[in-house]
Amino acid sequence: MPELKVLLSRETIAKRVAEMGAEIDRDFRGQAIIFVGVLKGAAIFLSDLARNVSLNATFDFIGVSSYGNRPIARDDPAGHAAWDSLGEVRLTKDLDQSLAGRNVILVEDILDTGLTLNYISKLLRAHQPKSLHIAALLDKPSRRKLPIEAHYIGFTIPDEYVVGYGLDYAELYRNLPDVCIVQNP
Ligand code: IMP
Repeated sequence: MPELKVLLSRETIAKRVAEMGAEIDRDFRGQAIIFVGVLKGAAIFLSDLARNVSLNATFDFIGVSSYGNRPIARDDPAGHAAWDSLGEVRLTKDLDQSLAGRNVILVEDILDTGLTLNYISKLLRAHQPKSLHIAALLDKPSRRKLPIEAHYIGFTIPDEYVVGYGLDYAELYRNLPDVCIVQNP
């Protein structure tokens, strides 16, 4: 059984998500927006973020699979290299609507290597939205492989594998209210 250590408490997350919502409110005052959530990790963040925004807002979701239930043994160089080299993103659920001419906020749980958001933002740009902004709850800049940045970032975290608040380890722990570090998987 992996040991979990709280990195970001539910109170800390709630406070920051409220600030992010207020920022989006200010930036898009008087305009409508559409939140596009990346399944499944961003579902909880999107629902909290959206409730902190008072603009006219609609939702859509996109599904991608990257490396499946990948190994997370960071002290295993072979495992880590195998995971890193995959670098492959596949669409598993497309959008339900066109984003043409709309203000899109792409909502993601975590920005890690940047491969996923790079793939999705290219896909969304092809719709020719009026604007495209990325909101990521977590950012691990030390792991970045592509020069992609989020406009709204909840927390910058160190290179640790985290779960909770939507983030999983082998599909588990998404329902933890806090973001926790997995200590010995
Ligand atoms: P990227 O494509 O490397 O930026 O990875 C983004 C995706 O990898 C996220 O949407 C997560 O699903 C997953 N991911 C990256 N780091 C973590 C982590 O620490 N915990 C859980 N999932 C992660």
